Amino acid sequence: MDRKVELELIDELRRLAASQSFFLDEVVARSPIETYLSETRFAREREAILRRLPQAAAHVSELASTGSFLRCDVHGLPVLLTRDRQGIVHAFLNVCRHRGARLVEAVSGCAHRFTCPYHGWTYANSGPLVAAPHFESGFSGIDKAGISLKPLPVKEAFGFIWVVGGPGGTFDFDGYFAPLADELDALEMAAMTIAAEDRMDCDANWKLLIEGGIESYHFRVAHRDTIAPYFEDNLSSYRALGPHLRSVLPRTGMAALPEATRDGWRMRDHANLVYTLFPTTQLLVQQDHVVWIRQEPLGPGRTGLRLATLAPTGGALAEGKSDDYWRRNHAITMMTLEEDIRIGEGIHAGLSSGANEHFLFGRFEGALDRFNRTVTDHLDAAAARKPA
Ligand code: FES
Ligand SMILES: [Fe+2]
Repeated sequence: MDRKVELELIDELRRLAASQSFFLDEVVARSPIETYLSETRFAREREAILRRLPQAAAHVSELASTGSFLRCDVHGLPVLLTRDRQGIVHAFLNVCRHRGARLVEAVSGCAHRFTCPYHGWTYANSGPLVAAPHFESGFSGIDKAGISLKPLPVKEAFGFIWVVGGPGGTFDFDGYFAPLADELDALEMAAMTIAAEDRMDCDANWKLLIEGGIESYHFRVAHRDTIAPYFEDNLSSYRALGPHLRSVLPRTGMAALPEATRDGWRMRDHANLVYTLFPTTQLLVQQDHVVWIRQEPLGPGRTGLRLATLAPTGGALAEGKSDDYWRRNHAITMMTLEEDIRIGEGIHAGLSSGANEHFLFGRFEGALDRFNRTVTDHLDAAAARKPA
């Protein structure tokens, strides 16, 4: 993070803490319940947002060597990630171009070629069809050279493999991440490894789960037995960086930092940073590691979650820390996130009760409104693109 920005953000929160006030938006906002419940709305979100924008489908350590591959789902699409002999990463639909069989069954491994289990069409890990039994006899007039696995836009950046889960076309990844590329680079996540992880499906709309991670109003109550004592009550700030959000949640020590030590102030030592990389990737930056939250919205009321602790493998942040240390950290994170997830599921269960027509976002919950407005803006833009 730019040093000037880092100090401005720290100063802002220290001022707010000193005056016992909060980071406030102009007005109270409302979020309609239908936004979280409606099948139609979810279908529009999938088409206009989820399948049009990048998600961190894997960490680079999962696709480290040439020939490695990884199978995953990206917004309901079966995806195969590969790293070819040149070290270039590819993302394909994991679907054979003959009659559509699932090409690769293994979840991960190493292979330079993939042979379809149905009739044996064989593809290079860079995509082209390289062999097919009796092709010349049975497919006369068809150009084998013109048949390849269907590619998806993909980019290796900031330690992740980013995939746009919609076939065809290209995506301007550099432009999309430009507002925070320097900050993400500085986290050196490419040099990290997955120290521990959990995966689960939960019964809540994906936006409710994002919302739970970008305000600290709930800490004193929902997290009273876990992290609440370490954080300022209801104090957090946020900035929109393009469609993304950077939230800062100060720990209790930040306000008391002596001014004389200003040159040594480092945000990560005194606050949690949450990057919400629109739409479904969240990075929770802690003092010595990063928690990566990957969302896979499955329906309006169902969301797959992958929660991984990324730990540094070398340097000062890794010094003296054992595997057990990272696993314990992960367990503490999970305890807190599970509190959030249970609350999210409870909210979802009550959506159709009729108790609320909309939710209220208080002025210190402005990040939630900002996030939902970004969703709405994308839906509106997609509607405007459609021919009348
Ligand atoms: S479906 Fe793959 S070779 Fe026939
Ligand atoms: Fe929480």
